[in-house]
Amino acid sequence: MAISEKVKKTIEGIRHQFPTTQALLIPLLHEIQQDKNWISPESLKDAAEFLELPLAKVKEVATFYTMFKLEPVGKVNLQLCVNISCWLNGSEKLLHCMEKRLKIGCGETTADGKYTLSEAECLASCGTAPVLQVNEDYYENLDVPQLNKLLDQFDSELAAGKVVGKSTHQPGVWP
Ligand code: FES
Repeated sequence: MAISEKVKKTIEGIRHQFPTTQALLIPLLHEIQQDKNWISPESLKDAAEFLELPLAKVKEVATFYTMFKLEPVGKVNLQLCVNISCWLNGSEKLLHCMEKRLKIGCGETTADGKYTLSEAECLASCGTAPVLQVNEDYYENLDVPQLNKLLDQFDSELAAGKVVGKSTHQPGVWP
């Protein structure tokens, strides 16, 4: 089974807090993603089996929310908001900076599997535009020099084997 014992134990531990089995689906998908960094087709099948739900229902939910990654992503998932406030405040420059530095385009992952770059549509932080979401952390009011500093920091952290972009993560709390 593609779902780890750790994930199953977490879900069993919170089962009593949810009114229906179907209500556990989103927490389960979050936990699988935490565990594997993405949700594979096999994991979707196993989620359906584990919760005794139709696979079509699981796929419907997983594909509706862009926060669920149904393709493998790099260790550092960079999602840059390009909606109106962020665009007006310089997200285009940030995008070009990352494309040039990482030598990838939007929707791509670096050959070493470290970074994935994508565009996002409004990260609900328009007052602090432009905003970059890095895994689960937000970086706001960014400019190009700050972005370069940030990417230098991530490079060093990855080289040291550290986890990047999860400083705000709290177990059992899902966005
Ligand atoms: S437009 Fe970028 S956070 Fe809303």
